[in-house]
Amino acid sequence: MFRTLPGFREFYPEDCAKKNYIFGVWRTAARSFGFSEFEPPVLEQLDLFTEKSGEEIKSQLFEFVDKGGRAVSLRPEMTPSLARMVGAKAAGIRRPVKWFAIGENYRYERQQKGRLRAFFQYNADILGEESLNADAEVVALLIESLRGFGLTENEFKLRLGDRTLWVLFLENAGVPEEKIIPVLSVVDKLEKVSPEVLREMTAEALKGTDLDADILVGKIRAFIAVRDIDAMRSYFDAQGELAVRVDARIAQWRELLKILESLGVGAFISPDLSIVRGLAYYTGFVFEAFQIVGTGRALAGGGRYDNLVKKLGYQDMPAVGFGMGDVTVSDLLELVGKSKSLSDRPDVYFVIGSENVRSKAMRIATALRRSGVKVDYPLKALSFGKQFKQADAVGASKAYILGDDELAAGVVKIKDLKTGEESSSKIDELI
Ligand code: HAM
Repeated sequence: MFRTLPGFREFYPEDCAKKNYIFGVWRTAARSFGFSEFEPPVLEQLDLFTEKSGEEIKSQLFEFVDKGGRAVSLRPEMTPSLARMVGAKAAGIRRPVKWFAIGENYRYERQQKGRLRAFFQYNADILGEESLNADAEVVALLIESLRGFGLTENEFKLRLGDRTLWVLFLENAGVPEEKIIPVLSVVDKLEKVSPEVLREMTAEALKGTDLDADILVGKIRAFIAVRDIDAMRSYFDAQGELAVRVDARIAQWRELLKILESLGVGAFISPDLSIVRGLAYYTGFVFEAFQIVGTGRALAGGGRYDNLVKKLGYQDMPAVGFGMGDVTVSDLLELVGKSKSLSDRPDVYFVIGSENVRSKAMRIATALRRSGVKVDYPLKALSFGKQFKQADAVGASKAYILGDDELAAGVVKIKDLKTGEESSSKIDELI
């Protein structure tokens, strides 16, 4: 007997119906913000991810050598491909670029609830615009995309962090530039690992410097305790020279929160410096949406990544965006009773009264299908009773009935399967 591989799902029709509902809500939200859909390839040159995504993803790649001897990998995320696609057309592309994509990504993750090895992800990104309005626009879209399912601020929140402040803070703490990304990866894991593991990870990140891991972790803990702008202000005021350097950034925090209020999503936002994001390319504001019911898992994450397009060898192009997975969103919708499905139901079930009329029934069914009506009919001779049962089972709204008598009279009987109401229609008119 064959089984699916660990971390891979198979979608029976009822699962597909739920997935289609989720994709539909995402598409509607993205289009309402003026985003256009794009699609990157599933398989890419390995380097695109090993060089651009960061250490954690590197260890999770589904990579192999193809028959042409190329080192390739299934995509673990879409952002590097997006940066390449936009970079390659940068000269002629209309800005701001506002693009979204929905597709499957692959990560060889450790088995845990909410994390699979193949998952769908919805991405929305703005490239070519450095204004805070772009950050606000993607944050608002992320929130509206979840509100589209009927989710409220009692069910999820968006925690907003800032790598710019982290870089200033870490520089001030004496962390050399090349150690900043490794230390931020440790911060990303701060709440997820034991104190012993944390000390080991920090010591590893600080290798080659004379910084003390325990002292730095202590400072980091004090810094991440900052949960609003006034606390941020007072934290930095106590740090001497650093206070002056962060003034401009704190003004941007106030500005961003003001824009988010205007966009009607203020109630969903909590400033939270513990959010730094695990991926290497982020540069400014970063954020994660979390469910606040049940286990509090991450629904989506993103942020600004102003250097990625340039690092791929194209022109400088600021960028900001997010990715949202289908796994945790769908679990949350089940949990709060807001799951729906876009099931594939026929409009019409054609009841074939006798095999004599089958060929006429097929002609009518074909005409209806060609005009956009979804039509199902029995593939072998069945009694009336069985056909009506089948019509019910497939969820058809109407039964069209053609028997010898109807054929002789040139009509089809129509029964509304919800109300039971009956009528008839001339065959010529139906065709
Ligand atoms: P990420 O935080 O790695 O960011 O993934 C974003 C979301 O994708 C997560 O919050 C989660 O919902 C979902 N996700 C990630 N890995 C898995 C998994 N193994 N199983 C199920 N769901 C998963 C990125 O991927 C960035 N590229 C997002 C981005 C776009 N940043 C800027 N633009």
